[in-house]
Amino acid sequence: MTTASASFGDPLIELSGVTKTYGRGQAAFQALRGVNFVIGEEDFVAVMGPSGSGKSTVMNILGCLDTPTSGAYLFRGVRVERLLRKERALLRRHYLGFVFQGFNLLARTSAQENVELPLLYRGESSSARHEAARAALSAVGLSGWETHTQAELSGGQQQRVAIARAIVTRPALLLADEPTGNLDTQCGREIMELLSVLNREKGITILMVTHEAEMAEYATRVIRFVDGRVESDVRNRERR
Ligand SMILES: Nc1ncnc2c1ncn2[C@@H]1O[C@H](COP(=O)(O)OP(=O)(O)O)[C@@H](O)[C@H]1O
Ligand SMILES: [Mg+2]
Repeated sequence: MTTASASFGDPLIELSGVTKTYGRGQAAFQALRGVNFVIGEEDFVAVMGPSGSGKSTVMNILGCLDTPTSGAYLFRGVRVERLLRKERALLRRHYLGFVFQGFNLLARTSAQENVELPLLYRGESSSARHEAARAALSAVGLSGWETHTQAELSGGQQQRVAIARAIVTRPALLLADEPTGNLDTQCGREIMELLSVLNREKGITILMVTHEAEMAEYATRVIRFVDGRVESDVRNRERR
């Protein structure tokens, strides 16, 4: 069953006829076969579907880590696939935040320093970095944990640090590829609660891959991929 789903607010991103082919000739594999969707500002979308259905491929394209083979990717009306590589890097740095399954923190580096990193890349002053990182750690419930390193934090806390690092730049879009995949159910729920709060209270648009139905429940909309295409796109009950 396919249910058309209007986006929530003004369009933030729009994919139109997006395809992605890996390799060429005999070895060519079409990972995306014409993907269309619109995601509104402040939407919270769970992306589901079997392994190999193209979820990470579409996340990589949205995250400007990869480009489509054909089709259009619009970000606030800008044709992203036509941008220069360095322009895409700027888009990534200023508008996007990333959270991964494996947290990807720098080991032997404090929570505070991990969270400051994206601001360092943006050339912000040390006092601005310090203040913003403390605020981001507070927003994820980690005030008091600033000086702790990865080895001194639980998995759930490490993912909170990673989320703080992703939101410290005040991104418009947070991309999360199986953010609860390495966590037990209770920790996973806490991370989903946190993402819901960030979506509602800070207005961050979230696109999250998950294969757990329970985690998808926290989203306001579920897009399901099968064989490189959107199979269904449905809005969950009213926003919680
Ligand atoms: N760099 C790559 N080179 C070749 N094939 C790839 C590459 N990345 C992904 N694929 C293939 O594309 C398909 C979709 O992959 P992916 O987007 O990672 O799926 P999902 O995240 O839904 O599990 C899979 O069949 C995968 O093997
Ligand atoms: Mg994947």
